[in-house]
Formats: sequence, C-alpha cells, structure tokens
Amino acid sequence: MPYADGNLAHAVDPDRGVMHFAEAGSMRDRLIVGLDLPTLSEAEKAVRELEGAVSFYKIGYQLAFAGGLDFARELASGGTKVFLDMKLLDIDNTVAKGVENIVKMGMTMLTLHAYPRAMRAAVEAAKGSDLCLLGVTVLTSMDEQDVIDAGYEYDPHTLVLRRSEQALHAGMGGIVCSAEEAQAVRRIVGPDLAVVTPGIRPSGSDHGDQKRVVTPAQAIRNGASHLVVGRPIVKAPDRRAAAEAILAEMQSA
Ligand code: C5P
Repeated sequence: MPYADGNLAHAVDPDRGVMHFAEAGSMRDRLIVGLDLPTLSEAEKAVRELEGAVSFYKIGYQLAFAGGLDFARELASGGTKVFLDMKLLDIDNTVAKGVENIVKMGMTMLTLHAYPRAMRAAVEAAKGSDLCLLGVTVLTSMDEQDVIDAGYEYDPHTLVLRRSEQALHAGMGGIVCSAEEAQAVRRIVGPDLAVVTPGIRPSGSDHGDQKRVVTPAQAIRNGASHLVVGRPIVKAPDRRAAAEAILAEMQSA
C-alpha cells in the first residue's frame, strides 16, 4: 500500500519490513545521477552544478574508495537521496552485518547481486528500516557471450527474469536491470517494486562499455521507476543542461 512522500510514492511493507518504491513521482525524482568521479572535490562540484535539477545521486566503487561514504552520509543528512551502489555479495552473515551498518547511514537505496541467499540475509538485516534493497540481475555491460563466459547456461534475458523472480520472493524492494528488460521484469515483480535501469543513453550519445542500452524516453515507457545516468551527465561539458535534456526526454514519454 504505497503512500505519497513528497513526489515519490513508497511504503514500508509491514509484513516484510522492507522499503518498496512504486512507479509514481515526478520525473525529477526518478532520475538518479551516478557520481562516477575520481575525487571528492569533483563530486562536490558536480552536485553544486546540478543543484535544483537533480535530487538523487548514486555513489559506487570509484567515489566510495575516495571518501565517498562520508560524502554519502553528508548528502543524506542534508535531505538528498543517495543510492549506495555497493553490489554486495558474500556469505550470509557478512552481508547481514554490512547491511545493518548501511541502514545506519541513512541511504535510500542499496544494491546487492541478486543471489537468493544474499538477498534473504539482506532483507532480514534491513527489516523495519526505510532502506530500499535492489537486486542487480545482470550487469548492463554484459551480453550473451559474457554471461556464458561467466559460467551461466542462461541468456541474459532469461537470467534477468529468473533473478527478478528470486528477488521478489526474497522480499527485495526492487530490481536493477537494463531498460530493455524492464517491461518483462515489471510483469514479474508487479507495480510496487522499484525497477531501476542503468545503461541509459540519449539518442546519438556514446555507449562506452554499456551493451544493453536504451534511451531515457523508452526506459520510462518500458516501466522503469528510476533511471541511472552516469557519463552522459557527469562527463558532459554542461552537466546541468545534459540533466535537463534527459529529464525533458523522460517527460516526453
Ligand atoms: O556512465 P553510465 O551511465 O554507463 O553509468 C551507469 C552506472 O550504473 C555505473 O555507475 C554502473 O556501475 C552502474 N550499473 C550498471 N549496470 C548495472 C548496475 C549498475 O551500469 N547492472
């Protein structure tokens, strides 16, 4: 039963105790900018440049290992939503203890690889908190051959759907997948879970290492609740203009 908090509808599921995000909310609340930058001062500069245009940031490996965890706490205590992209995977106890401490940091979202045991341990550890746990299905930089090389017998699409089902059953708050798969994932997880899609590229932009890419408008049409955009914004000569252009594309959908 989602309720409105600002523009973003979300709720703590009383049975499972994990935070769920619904699809509702303004486009601005649904754009997450990946602060994939080498230093804290560059990240602070990007946040200053994007002030007012962006209200949700993702902090991943690069910044986390350059002072980004304290910066994440700082942003969160100032009311900015932070998605901590740690892609956790370890034995159950280690995952649970890590999640317990991340809950204390005031983060909005956290990723772990969508392995059933890790997801169940994380859900138990986050119970009663408002942390939205996201299961990373298959990285958007992976294609069929990469999945085979990693030892799986599934094609990326099948593996994404299987892991989405497992994430739903584990009680996760959402899924990370390519927007190419968002429609099929949405059918599996229902309307309330977050479907967060990286690999977003405005038409005509550089794909970099991403292979399963989709435009911002198409991602929204496919049922994504949140779009993660890194390089197309943080590497743009005018970051604010790039973010506004992506928001306009999202709104056009
Ligand atoms: O620069 P770009 O827009 O490709 O950044 C996408 C971000 O989303 C990166 O920080 C990457 O680590 C993250 N991500 C991803 N694919 C996933 C999960 C996270 O690209 N499946």
